[in-house]
Amino acid sequence: MQNKRYPCPGFPHLIHGADYNPEQWIDDKSIWDRDMELMQLANCNEMSVGIFSWSMLEPREGEYDFTFLDEIIDKIHNNGGKVILATPSGARPHWMADKYPEVLRVVDAGRRNGFGGRHNHCFTSPVYREKVRQMNTLLAQRYGNHPAVIAWHISNEYSGECHCPMCKKAFRDFLREKFHGDIKELNRAYWTTFWSHTYDSFEQIDPPSPSAEMGIHGLNLDWHRFVTHQTMDFIKNEVAPIREHSPNLPVTINMMYEFYDLNYHKVADVIDFASWDSYPEWHNGDDALIAQQTAFWHDLYRCLKQKPFLLMESTPSGVNWKPYNKPKKPGMDVLSSLQAVAHGSDSVQYFQWRKSRGSSEKFHGAVVGHDGTGDTRVFRSVQETGRILKQIDQIAGTVTDAKVAVIFDWENMWALDDCQGYANATKKYFNTCYEYHRAFWQSGIDCDVISPTADLSRYKIVVAPMLYVVDTAAAQNLTRFTENGGILYGTYTLGTVDGNDLCHLGGIPGCGLKEVFGILAEEIDVLYPNEKQHASLNGKVYELVDYCETIHLRGAKALATYSDGYYAGTPAVTLNAYGKGYALYQACRDTGDMKDQLMEQLLQMAGISANVDSALPHGVTAHSRTDGERTYLFVENYSGTEAAAVKLKGKMENMLTGETEDTCSLAPYGFCIYRTI
Ligand code: GAL
Ligand code: ZN
Repeated sequence: MQNKRYPCPGFPHLIHGADYNPEQWIDDKSIWDRDMELMQLANCNEMSVGIFSWSMLEPREGEYDFTFLDEIIDKIHNNGGKVILATPSGARPHWMADKYPEVLRVVDAGRRNGFGGRHNHCFTSPVYREKVRQMNTLLAQRYGNHPAVIAWHISNEYSGECHCPMCKKAFRDFLREKFHGDIKELNRAYWTTFWSHTYDSFEQIDPPSPSAEMGIHGLNLDWHRFVTHQTMDFIKNEVAPIREHSPNLPVTINMMYEFYDLNYHKVADVIDFASWDSYPEWHNGDDALIAQQTAFWHDLYRCLKQKPFLLMESTPSGVNWKPYNKPKKPGMDVLSSLQAVAHGSDSVQYFQWRKSRGSSEKFHGAVVGHDGTGDTRVFRSVQETGRILKQIDQIAGTVTDAKVAVIFDWENMWALDDCQGYANATKKYFNTCYEYHRAFWQSGIDCDVISPTADLSRYKIVVAPMLYVVDTAAAQNLTRFTENGGILYGTYTLGTVDGNDLCHLGGIPGCGLKEVFGILAEEIDVLYPNEKQHASLNGKVYELVDYCETIHLRGAKALATYSDGYYAGTPAVTLNAYGKGYALYQACRDTGDMKDQLMEQLLQMAGISANVDSALPHGVTAHSRTDGERTYLFVENYSGTEAAAVKLKGKMENMLTGETEDTCSLAPYGFCIYRTI
């Protein structure tokens, strides 16, 4: 049976488009007509419009004017294109800040910001919520049934926090609910007898601030949770009129990497499909590494809804906000665009369609530059991507059937960053997650990136790198997974604190995980940057850096032991049989090889093989999607200098040439796309 899940069911195709801001060119509409011709030429079938259009749509309070949007949506429609329509709340008109200062954000020192920038607003303000609701109602009523519109793009990259009196009150209410109105319960959870910081009432609680309280870790964690909660509440307010007046169109928000303020695993609950804005720093070092880290995020965004996502923004050349804004080298734009599709994106979209003439993004990469023609290297590369997407349109809606997963958790990131222990310079939570993901990426194995409470039943191997925060729900999930036959891979710091950031007592990994792993962790030796330790595994010695945890066997057997230091001869890696499954514990941080070796063993135990039939050279990888009947295979080469040949698992059809092949030949920055015959 075919299994296809389209992000935009009204348009079951691969999407090729861009953020389009035609209002910037309203004084010369010949540009709009030129844009329509160029969109066809670029093989684009979609534009995202309205993203920052509020002052055009409501130039004065209550005076709405939709003529520009009417005109542009019809133009795109008549040109054969589709529209992803944004709500404009990412930036407000000046009049609103002037008349209602409460909509302006307050920074943590208590100072209210002036007008300007983006997302510079209070997510609690009833005035701002009401203005957004009115605007979105009108948009949904007017365009909810327009044949060109295929989805709603809610606001733009929500982010940040506000410390105004209304937000403080909402935070206190949030805590009151969490702690059942009982301040003693909060004091216990926050361990406030420490430094005599006991609260007498909820009214005394302020958000964490460097000029006041930053030392209560439970409070810090709850503030992060509140910011996510309040932003979600704001999104629900945005989405309500859309659900009412445009019930058939899906909604998304465009997300970005780990945007520190928001736990996207939670935010995903209020949207229909995920989309994200990807801006890797290509060519700054090893492109293979950059590709793999980008793949990590594609994998995470796919897993937010466990279905295809949209690559909502990417630059066809360089950006304007990095220390060095280097354009992509020839070949990289097409390759990195198709990388997103390989990992489950049903679109390749750019920021921006046309370079703005003034202001801060005038030098940001765009499909159409200031020359206004299609006669550029960048435009031709976009054209080529569009041509390829048409050839592989059958892939739209197909899913990824990963058997392995890496856990990444926002709450864990916040708590680890907050904790004053280990070594601040070497916690490297992201990097550690990236490294375990890399072990799969470089072997050509599809990998999911998930939360600790995700449904684990589909996986054979789950890796939980540095999962320092473990509450009962997460512990039960991991325990059940292992009991039922899964292979769980944990590391140093696992299960150190609970969901209130209180240390687990009675030995770690806490919450029952020491039984699952059959070990007891005692102490972590923190290594200085120039210090190295070693461990031997299967007779081979591996280099260790940063952290060596000393652990005791409580049922597990040692796979590797430390070779030096005061803990020489004690276990460094252990394996425990638990229920129908196994739990592997890596107590130390290695520089890569040891992980690869362990992973190879686990993949064999789990009977998981790669997407291709040969070992992959450095920088080459292979990913797959499936409709339940056919497999679609992407083989990618991130080396800009070396060609490569890869043996396929039998004969497949090359979707771009129609040839049947059993070996894939890749040029530098080359790729091939196959389907099973
Ligand atoms: C994104 C943002 C866009 C644009 C882009 C530039 O984060 O959503 O509006 O500013 O960055 O790279
Ligand atoms: Zn506020």
